[in-house]
Amino acid sequence: MNPSSIRFEGQVVVVTGAARSIGAAIAEAFAREGARVVLADADGAQLEVEVAALNARHPGAAVGAAGDLSREDGALALLAATQKAFGDAQVLVNNAGGGVILPFLSHTPDTLRATIDRNLWTTLWCTRAFLPPMLAAGFGRIVNLGADSVRNGLADHAAYNAAKGGVHGLTTGLAREYATAGITVNTVAPCAVNSPPMQAFLRDKPEVARRFLEVIPMRRTAEMEEVSSMVTYLASREAAFVTGQVISVNGGSNML
Ligand SMILES: NC(=O)c1ccc[n+]([C@@H]2O[C@H](COP(=O)([O-])OP(=O)(O)OC[C@H]3O[C@@H](n4cnc5c(N)ncnc54)[C@H](O)[C@@H]3O)[C@@H](O)[C@H]2O)c1
Repeated sequence: MNPSSIRFEGQVVVVTGAARSIGAAIAEAFAREGARVVLADADGAQLEVEVAALNARHPGAAVGAAGDLSREDGALALLAATQKAFGDAQVLVNNAGGGVILPFLSHTPDTLRATIDRNLWTTLWCTRAFLPPMLAAGFGRIVNLGADSVRNGLADHAAYNAAKGGVHGLTTGLAREYATAGITVNTVAPCAVNSPPMQAFLRDKPEVARRFLEVIPMRRTAEMEEVSSMVTYLASREAAFVTGQVISVNGGSNML
């Protein structure tokens, strides 16, 4: 790679939900561009596999931190692990999440709680943990993973959209609060992404798959790298004047 395009040399990047799928693709994208990356996930076993694979491709680039980030103590433990391994983080990617996609009344109390925990509480606690050192440094990039379904009201997404809508709302509020502090806060909102859980979901529910794809003019899901490239752009120094944005990566599906 051309050294001038190694945008994250010397930076520390934390990616939550990085044991698999989109989070793993985001961690790979940052490591490829010179970052030291902390991969965080509740699934410790899969996290070890992903960290080993990333270090095999980019020696010394990655460490793992296992824990439940929907709890304040989990987020604070991630902050401590990051500082111990690499020092302060310049970039936080709140990617942990995942849908429990069901008609609203088919949810149980547990699936409703899990939906909010995975998507909104992880983002709230991690952001609260990592903001103070970013403020002290006068520099920070926070990039959240939201969802285009908040905008288009995709079938069976009401509870998930309540959680991701909270992430979208947090984005604009924090961006304004810290606009003069060197910190930008943005959200990448994908439509259906070609990740392993989405592949399984679309394979098992062909009628739902048809409805998901018919709202996307490109008639396909997003590749994970098409999402990670927007995340790295928003985390880069080039994106210094972009804040408070919810940016759809959706194959044009906001066009009527
Ligand atoms: N796949 C899609 O089509 C799609 C579409 C729009 C938005 N998104 C969002 O993109 C992000 C990544 O999606 P994905 O498809 O890769 O999901 P995924 O389910 O494959 O991976 C999510 C990861 O987050 C981790 N995680 C969940 N809750 C956690 C917690 N409390 N603490 C720590 N880790 C936790 C999981 O263990 C898992 O490894 C999610 O926020 C998701 O909601 C995905």
